[in-house]
Amino acid sequence: MTNNLTGTPTGTSTGTSTGTSTPTGAASILWLENAEQVIRDRRSIRAFAAPNLSASAAETRSSESAQASLLAALNTGRNPFKASHRFQIVTTESGTHTSGANDRGNGHKLGTYGVIKGANQYLVSALTPGDEHLEALGFDMEYAVLQAHAMGLGTCWLGGTFNKGQFATALGLKAGELLPIVIPFGRPAEKDGLVGRLIRGIAGSNQRLEFGALFSSEVYGTPLSVADAGPFATALEMVRLGPSASNKQPWRVVKSGNTLHFYLKPTKGYANSLGYDIQRVDMGIALCHFDVMMQAQNLVGRYEKLTGPETEKRDDLDYIISFRL
Ligand SMILES: Cc1cc2nc3c(=O)[nH]c(=O)nc-3n(C[C@H](O)[C@H](O)[C@H](O)COP(=O)(O)O)c2cc1C
Repeated sequence: MTNNLTGTPTGTSTGTSTGTSTPTGAASILWLENAEQVIRDRRSIRAFAAPNLSASAAETRSSESAQASLLAALNTGRNPFKASHRFQIVTTESGTHTSGANDRGNGHKLGTYGVIKGANQYLVSALTPGDEHLEALGFDMEYAVLQAHAMGLGTCWLGGTFNKGQFATALGLKAGELLPIVIPFGRPAEKDGLVGRLIRGIAGSNQRLEFGALFSSEVYGTPLSVADAGPFATALEMVRLGPSASNKQPWRVVKSGNTLHFYLKPTKGYANSLGYDIQRVDMGIALCHFDVMMQAQNLVGRYEKLTGPETEKRDDLDYIISFRL
């Protein structure tokens, strides 16, 4: 599979499903010139500000336009992974603002075990399982996350701490579909709540592994320096800053000349804990950050699924995709 960075994607069928407008064609990313800042500034938000209970028509319109913007950002037409998923925004009943444990979305309870406070809208995904569909999901949804941040909205990826049954009912999940991820979004509260601070502390969310620990030169395990990363330096730094489940940072990259090979270094025992390999979503997010930054710098190349020796299965690395400049 090949997907030219500037061309039309191949094998990608990203669907959106919503009560609001469904975008057709690829969305333009208006914050591209600030992409580096957007990626550097984004962090998970778990406490959201209360909506104005006597919301004016203008505020309602602005909320609807934010929702439409997020849905449009899912459809960049740049996803290098094959996808078959649909997205929907689930909102709580107008004006409600509850603790998170018993939020009601379109008449349904939407529980996050108290992790998320005050959210009244969620971006949710229904996925048809396939070889690359989790990576594809990560790629598309992270574009929406960055779009939200550029609009001043907070987000938090949730792969574990949400009540699947409740969200499945709200989404109208069909037989054969999975619901791996939900993302609350909205105006951040002034302060993180206690639970948010606790989770950040446990996951070590403010820390990332060193550049040379994640990225290798020619041979896996030989640290790549920022200087030797050449034209890829900033885009790889954006990969390094990405969010990942429990901040495990499973992305690894080997630079070989003008080609980057992306790998997943699975965390032992982690993939099966949720019934799907959440670290494949992390890989999609990493590729999104890479893609955004290469695009922002007008660096054009192509994604390729190689079949040569660099893709051979090793105990500690799964080959994902390559990018050739
Ligand atoms: C795929 C994925 C799933 C996640 N699932 C959860 C979750 O279930 N609950 C939660 O509180 N945070 C979740 N997170 C947020 C991570 O803990 C967070 O991204 C990481 O600690 C880095 O912090 P940052 O996003 O503030 O940079 C998830 C993140 C990703 C990328």
